[in-house]
Amino acid sequence: MSNLVVIGAQWGDEGKGKIVDRLAGQFDAVARYAGGSNAGHTLTVKGEKVVVHLLPSGVLHPTTRCFLGASMVVDPAALIAEVEAVGEVGVTLGGDRLCLDRRAHLVLPYHRELDTRRDVGASAIGTTRRGIGPAYEDKVARRGLRVADLEDESQLREKLKRVVEERINPALEYFGAPLVDLLQLFDQLVEQGARLRPWIGDVPGELWRMMGQGQRVLFEGAQGVLLDLEHGSYPYVTSSSTLPAGACLSLGVSPRSLGSVIGVAKAYCTRVGEGPFPTEAHGEPGEQLAQAGHEFGSTTGRPRRCGWLDLVALRHAVRVSGIDALALTKIDVLAGIEPLRVCVGYTLDGKEQTSPPATAEQWHRVEPRYVERPSIEALDVVKLRAVKTWNQLPASIRDFVSFIGAEVGVPVAFVSTGPGREDGVMTGAFEWGQ
Ligand code: GDP
Ligand code: IMO
Ligand code: MG
Repeated sequence: MSNLVVIGAQWGDEGKGKIVDRLAGQFDAVARYAGGSNAGHTLTVKGEKVVVHLLPSGVLHPTTRCFLGASMVVDPAALIAEVEAVGEVGVTLGGDRLCLDRRAHLVLPYHRELDTRRDVGASAIGTTRRGIGPAYEDKVARRGLRVADLEDESQLREKLKRVVEERINPALEYFGAPLVDLLQLFDQLVEQGARLRPWIGDVPGELWRMMGQGQRVLFEGAQGVLLDLEHGSYPYVTSSSTLPAGACLSLGVSPRSLGSVIGVAKAYCTRVGEGPFPTEAHGEPGEQLAQAGHEFGSTTGRPRRCGWLDLVALRHAVRVSGIDALALTKIDVLAGIEPLRVCVGYTLDGKEQTSPPATAEQWHRVEPRYVERPSIEALDVVKLRAVKTWNQLPASIRDFVSFIGAEVGVPVAFVSTGPGREDGVMTGAFEWGQ
């Protein structure tokens, strides 16, 4: 029995939360390693929906421990609000169930303000406005405030004063935004620090101890490979490493401890915000996918752009992140969609591309090549979701799934047929350690 990594293989919102929630009961811990409250992971159990932004998607399993890694950027107010929100549905995070690494950086109100003021006009990325980019900028510039600073008031006061006076207030002034009231922010942070204190800890040390005792850890990614800072559609990306390597960096674990890597991919593609999306389906087909898939952002509520499955991008995601097998989600959404298209290749200036181009400008210009697949007939979703074995799935779904596995070159381990924890079928093509 080994550990497992679950990551998004597209532009986020692939259904990672659902897959992690489904698997988490078999693990002793779920450790989230990337991003912050830009993520929105939907967990649906017995028809009840919970969306987590910072907390790991294993939070609904009462004995599974939850870790937040050092590479995350954590908005203290958002974390406190989320703990309270899950508390209302009966989730308790007492004892040592939640552990927030003291090396994680803080997202403060001024990061959110700067994110919102900056991300406008022709160069806008369409960020989630959660302060993610500005917080990672402060981290890389080595002036960021970290969770550990909440444990030392004199350090907190001194660092906050320096960064606000030197960097933040001048930037806010440039945008005509209200300046930071240092005293007020300091008091707020002291109060939030006191609330968070029971959860602050040493994540690498705890994971090392757990793994040393043979306990299993599920490493949970956020966003998706195509939003990765290095290997995504730069600059239309998030500011962190979404690849499995990010788990090693964030959680301080050995690459040898990761176990298999599961890439979660939708049976079509969506993207929120700006950036290249060669298979985007404009007009009627795009709207059909959006409606059938309820494609609205789990964090911002923004409509997601929808289009056809892009196998050039998916093969790239598989290569750069060492994906061993796919979990293919939202197959139910394709039922009745006709024609059913899949992009199997790109050309750029007449030349075949085996990977997405490195620049967004070129990625925008590629010409996708499609095949039309036999459509999946309109189905009764209640009946479809009752199916629990591969052989009982409709032949049109099995045909589509087999085609994807063969084209991408890795097996499809699991086919998700609905948002609920129980909805879906193991294909038998890959064992993910259950
Ligand atoms: P994440 O960010 O990758 O966790 O994904 P989100 O939660 O942002 O978005 C995925 C959406 O699809 C959520 O509303 C899920 O409840 C839903 N979902 C997940 N898997 C399936 C599926 O197989 N079928 C359908 N219809 N919905 C699904
Ligand atoms: P989950 O974990 C989808 C996108 C934003 C924007 C870009 C940069 O739910 O899959 P940021 O706020 O990170 O600076 O925004 O990245 N983005 C996501 N899109 N799902 C997410 O997370 C995302 N997190 C960031 O829409 O295009
Ligand atoms: Mg999401």
